[in-house]
Amino acid sequence: MISNESGANGPAFFCLKILLMRGRVFDGNHNACHESWQNMAWNKGGCMSDHMTVLVTGGAGYIGSHMVLALLDAGHQPVILDDFSTGHETLVPNGVPVFRGNVADPALVAEICNSYDIDAVAHFAASIVVPESVTDPLKYYLNNTASTTRFIAACVQAGIKRFVFSSTAAVYGNQDSNPIAEDASTQPENPYGTSKLMSETILCDCARATGISYVILRYFNVAGADPKGRAGQLSEPATHLIKVAVEAAVGKRASMQVYGTDYPTPDGTCIRDYIHVSDLIGAHMAALAHLQAGGESMLANCGYGHGASVRDVLDVVAAQAGKKLAISDAPRRAGDAAILVADSTKLRTALGWTPQYDDLQKIVSDALAWERANS
Ligand code: UFG
Repeated sequence: MISNESGANGPAFFCLKILLMRGRVFDGNHNACHESWQNMAWNKGGCMSDHMTVLVTGGAGYIGSHMVLALLDAGHQPVILDDFSTGHETLVPNGVPVFRGNVADPALVAEICNSYDIDAVAHFAASIVVPESVTDPLKYYLNNTASTTRFIAACVQAGIKRFVFSSTAAVYGNQDSNPIAEDASTQPENPYGTSKLMSETILCDCARATGISYVILRYFNVAGADPKGRAGQLSEPATHLIKVAVEAAVGKRASMQVYGTDYPTPDGTCIRDYIHVSDLIGAHMAALAHLQAGGESMLANCGYGHGASVRDVLDVVAAQAGKKLAISDAPRRAGDAAILVADSTKLRTALGWTPQYDDLQKIVSDALAWERANS
């Protein structure tokens, strides 16, 4: 797609569209990002042949909002679809078009695709809390599997050609050995992992039948915040380890628990491969470039290839916060695998991904900085 200042995707026409869209769209309010987006996308005085318009579902959420920033930084145009069940308007950069609604609404997806020349979709919107999926599996099969199926159907109908899908390491469950490569068996320990694995299968089948090309990214443990402080995690109530720990560090919660101290690991707590959210988004940008260049459909793990235990993470948080955290030991949490560490060779070789923040200290310091600024 080619766009320029006077074309149908130029800023004036774009703002007009925002005003005209039946109350479903609002203008975000992040001035700094608005400036950077306009400078990057349209003020360079001409055509950008590699410019893409990307529909970002869940673009007002934790990871999706980082994707929106990366697209703006690279001169692309994000269009957000979010139902704001866990998304936040404060995470939406000023001027980015937002459609408020559900990915399972085919009329809304059609409206978006009629309004914008969508080159690719990045589908983040999902329910993502492992223990919740054990107690409320239907929420996960409905919000993740069923809604994603409807969304894929709407994308097929709209002629979308490229699809980047957020999947999870939870599809692997407990493995005999780590790091885990993509060809490992899939044996989810929880309905969250199963809901995503089913979505993967549906996407692969539909892609084969329709000619959509896709990249499926299986996330390991995403954490941290935008190093420039523009986005971070705002989930309430927080459940993910690093988010919970930095909340404890800034006094937002009095105490926290370690779930399970009898796992077959050196210190008895679970081991995870924590990946900085900006590196994860780097993988998405590489995936988009791959698809835009006509690359084949593929699946890749997103992690660094080494893990940290729950106690390792808590030690780093406490050291950086300069205080002792009030931590108590608790029984195992349902659905937790003991060790999940990625073999990310494929991401590095096939997509040329080079992480910039492979450092637990950096992940924690960015998470802590975001928490301090936003609590
Ligand atoms: N944990 C605690 N205390 C807490 C929170 C978490 O001890 O307050 C422990 C968990 O029991 C687990 C580890 O920290 O052992 C990591 O738990 P998270 O909730 O941070 O993350 P999960 O591993 O459950 O899940 C995350 C993503 C999934 C992804 C998975 C893959 O949410 O999408 O990582 O590794 F599938």
